[in-house]
Amino acid sequence: MRWVSALLLSTTLLGAAANPLVGSDAVVGVDNVGPQHILAWPGVEHTAANSVEEHRQEEFRSTITSVNGVVYQQFAHPAFSDHRLRVTSPEICDPTVKQYSGYLDISDTRHLFFWFFEARKNPDSAPLMMWLNGGPGCSSTTGLLFENGPCAVTSPNTTEWNPYSWTNIANMIFLDEPIGTGYSYASDHSKVDTLADLAVDVYAFLQFYVHKMNKRRIYAPFPGQRHINFASLILANGLTEPATQFESVPEYLCDKSPYPPFEKDSATCRMLRAEAPICERMIESCYRFESLATCVSATGYCWARVLGVGGNIHYNPYDIRIPCVDPDGVCYEEIGWITSWMNKPDVKRALGVDHSPIDFLACNMTTNAGFYTQGQAMHNSAALLPELVEAGIRLMSFAGNTDSVCNHIGIENWMLKLEHKHHEEFLSAPFLPFITDVTGDVGGKVRTAGGSGAGNVTYVQIFDGGHMAPHDQPEATLDMITRWVRNIPFDVIG
Ligand SMILES: *[C@@H]1O[C@H](CO)[C@@H](O)[C@H](O)[C@H]1NC(C)=O
Ligand SMILES: *[C@@H]1O[C@H](CO)[C@@H](O)[C@H](O)[C@H]1NC(C)=O
Ligand SMILES: *[C@@H]1O[C@H](CO)[C@@H](O)[C@H](O)[C@H]1NC(C)=O
Repeated sequence: MRWVSALLLSTTLLGAAANPLVGSDAVVGVDNVGPQHILAWPGVEHTAANSVEEHRQEEFRSTITSVNGVVYQQFAHPAFSDHRLRVTSPEICDPTVKQYSGYLDISDTRHLFFWFFEARKNPDSAPLMMWLNGGPGCSSTTGLLFENGPCAVTSPNTTEWNPYSWTNIANMIFLDEPIGTGYSYASDHSKVDTLADLAVDVYAFLQFYVHKMNKRRIYAPFPGQRHINFASLILANGLTEPATQFESVPEYLCDKSPYPPFEKDSATCRMLRAEAPICERMIESCYRFESLATCVSATGYCWARVLGVGGNIHYNPYDIRIPCVDPDGVCYEEIGWITSWMNKPDVKRALGVDHSPIDFLACNMTTNAGFYTQGQAMHNSAALLPELVEAGIRLMSFAGNTDSVCNHIGIENWMLKLEHKHHEEFLSAPFLPFITDVTGDVGGKVRTAGGSGAGNVTYVQIFDGGHMAPHDQPEATLDMITRWVRNIPFDVIG
């Protein structure tokens, strides 16, 4: 079951400013391989009985159904007797492409909301990518509308077309997970507060949705899927290996950040240098014992004493260049706008969620707190990665260098420690400038190993980008993702 931890705790993060709440994640996956089969995902029993793969695609039953006046196309499959996929076709956000949204009903009471966009060019041959925001508890539409989706929120009731959308090069699914996030809900009040439970639901979604909706039968990526033919896993400013991550905080905040917020010999920095090693040891004991007691106490200590810097910060922890504009709403006013926009009656109708019993929240802090109370934030998700790399799945981790919550030094450090078949090569690889294709500007720097393209294990530091680097550096991050998907070396221009 540990597997699954990689999923959530591997990435992006949102939380309140004074006390950055949560490590979270945006896990992204890309896949562009042909037909294949899903192998077992630890934590999810994979048998012929629940595998769509072993049934023919024709066996999907399609019906038209209407729920509270919204018309859906509904799909069912004998392999998943409890599941229904309810799909509608919105024409908002980016009306130039085909879209699907709706719910995977996992049972009568559990419903996962998704929104899919076809690639702007050649959707039939473009890869499929799934974007998952972390928190946990932040809707993946926060990534869609604020980072890399086909439209960006510009006020509480408007969006505009995003020329730098990652749908320029990929078909994209934005899935709200876990239940209790965005428009995903349980009507029986059951909750999901562990990564293992979350993975079960996401896995069901993947099997069902990807088989039904994707003509090329390609798969999005998950750390839990051993030996599956998904092409790659991308971690976006993720909290992946917390001990190394937290250890790096004083170095980042007091010295090596491009804009250090504290004087090297200030009282804050002296305190940080004293507290970080204690926090690191507590996380190591969470790794060792994996008990609620060790992991929960490490979470409390490290958040209060290291990430929160005594609750006394004057900058936006997700982007130290700027002030925290909206301390109640993750520091960016746009996150509040997303909540307003997604709750608009016409948007809800278009997305097929207007009978939703819950209001949309960009980040549900109750869901978030559930995971923290279970000590889930402190697990060593990096330990799940070598097996994927050994199996030939490409791994890229990128880090905006003005994010202080999952700072780039910590990310670089755990990437350097990670043991896999490309380890030696990765260690000795030089840092190369990453020159973006369009402007020729230096967008960051990159270290790669394995293969002559964009690498099999790759780390990219994005200059002047925060936790939500695609928002701050849309052109550089689109260029990065394009090179990654097409496996083009980072130093080739044109
Ligand atoms: C957008 O929302 C604001 C505040 O909620 C409101 O005053 C304004 O009239 C709205 N504009 C449109 C075009 O709906
Ligand atoms: C937030 O999540 C909790 C459980 O995690 C759920 O009970 C509640 O309905 C959610 N709130 C909203 C507005 O989605
Ligand atoms: C890099 O990954 C690709 C795709 O899995 C694989 O075909 C290739 O052999 C790998 N390269 C090396 C040097 O292992």
